[in-house]
Amino acid sequence: MRLTSTFIALTLIMLGNHFVQAQNLSIKITKRYLNLPVSQAENRGTMQFQMLGKQERSFKIRLASGKPDYWVFCDMTALQGQTISISYDGKTDGLNKIYQDDKFAGQDSVYREKNRPQYHFSSRRGWINDPNGMIFFEGEYHLFYQHNPYEREWENMSWGHAVSKDMIHWEELPTALSPDNLGTMFSGSTVIDYNNTAGFNRGKTPAMIAFFTVDNPEKQIQCMAYSLDKGRTWTKYDKNPLIDSRAKWNSKDTRDPRVFWYEPSKHWVMVLNERDGHSIYTSQNLKEWKYESHLTGFWECPDLFELPVDGDNSKKKWVIYGASATYMIGSFDGKTFKPESGKHYYTTGSIYAAQTFANMPENDPRRIQIGWGRIQQPGMPFNNMMLLPTELRLRTTKNGPRLVSVPVKESEQLFDRIGQWSALSANDASEKVKSLQATDKFRMKATLKLSHATSTGFSLFGQRLLDYDMNSNLVNGVFYSPEDMTSMEITADIYVDRTSVEVFIDNGAYSYSLERKPVSASKEIIQFWGNQIEVKNLEMYTAKSIWK
Ligand code: FRU
Repeated sequence: MRLTSTFIALTLIMLGNHFVQAQNLSIKITKRYLNLPVSQAENRGTMQFQMLGKQERSFKIRLASGKPDYWVFCDMTALQGQTISISYDGKTDGLNKIYQDDKFAGQDSVYREKNRPQYHFSSRRGWINDPNGMIFFEGEYHLFYQHNPYEREWENMSWGHAVSKDMIHWEELPTALSPDNLGTMFSGSTVIDYNNTAGFNRGKTPAMIAFFTVDNPEKQIQCMAYSLDKGRTWTKYDKNPLIDSRAKWNSKDTRDPRVFWYEPSKHWVMVLNERDGHSIYTSQNLKEWKYESHLTGFWECPDLFELPVDGDNSKKKWVIYGASATYMIGSFDGKTFKPESGKHYYTTGSIYAAQTFANMPENDPRRIQIGWGRIQQPGMPFNNMMLLPTELRLRTTKNGPRLVSVPVKESEQLFDRIGQWSALSANDASEKVKSLQATDKFRMKATLKLSHATSTGFSLFGQRLLDYDMNSNLVNGVFYSPEDMTSMEITADIYVDRTSVEVFIDNGAYSYSLERKPVSASKEIIQFWGNQIEVKNLEMYTAKSIWK
């Protein structure tokens, strides 16, 4: 439905220190969404909404002057009945295409688009990167994430928000944190302040508190906001920032606070990436922070947590990592992390900036991680995705304890086994999987056994999903040595979605993720190779969509 109450006027707006002529659009908000046309071929301009003479929001958008590539939307629920005035300092031809409706443009086909991941989270519209503020609270898993609601590329950093009861099926909620006059909303974490240490709780309702970096052209500062309604609405702390360490580090790179409660000393800990590594800060009230120590060798997006070794709670170790997921194992006394071994890796590929859920229930202390999947979604009004949630454990290996990562048990509901075979030749195995009907999404588990030198693997429509070179000990180009160094076998559990592939080797000892190449009709669905290899075990599963 087109606008009924709009009015376009020419006005002068202040841009930098000069006035430019811009068109102003005035709209009385009567519907849930405001739909905005986007064209990637246009330059970005700044759009501003004014309400009662005050700026309501400001963001960059490539407003389509001709035919839009796609549409994005603003959720106007909070502004019903208000009149807003919209200005734009780019090409204004697209202003008269903006319209309000109770549906966002394309809502009827959302989650059913051609390149929409079917069992991974992606946002309805726009760009996503790092998971943020992952927390379990009162029966809901919260996934916040770096989000540009207005374009399929990075810009306007905000915290998007989705909730789930099982970490598998997600409901996307309105944007949680939007840019303000301090800057844009970069990555961070959340806690529940059960003891009201910050004083934001209301009655028996504990505050969910978010810690995030605000980025502006000069610096990156650490700020907080709180929510008393399970993350649905947020109030930014009026004395932000909490930490401004630009001068101390002579660097703009100070970001991505990860906050948690350290029970032995009863204080809060913040791990913050500063210039060349992770710093530790401590606090009693979440507002005043004391610098304690610094560990060089990491970049962006810290996480730090304790895990039992082989599930034994009397043998615990601390794990610290950065955005690339390389990690150190060591000890932590609430103020300083002492490395014992590292850096190691357990996963590579498209994963980046992974985070783990905070506040897991006492009877389910799993350490569950979700990583950003740097996976392009070609031609879609959205981009990137989250990888499957995986449980992280420390397992003793011949080299000492190491992280292993396997998809959470909740993901089992997605897959139905349609066949299991054993002791097949490569050709017979390739024949068996031809029965697979839906190749856009499935799961396959295979154990391959070498008897002659030197490599084996399989491809999907010609793309090598597993390429094991036993001579150089490379799995898809990355060094991997099995726990039994004389082993001639390798097991791969692969999760194929429309645009992505995740592979878990030998029960999660190593994993990787990659972009899936488009289907090529001239190639075999799945082809196994290797000189007289045996496909010792092969299991095929269909996959369900998580979207209704
Ligand atoms: C990692 C990162 C973070 C930053 C965010 C900005 O991908 O660079 O360090 O907070 O993305 O979107």
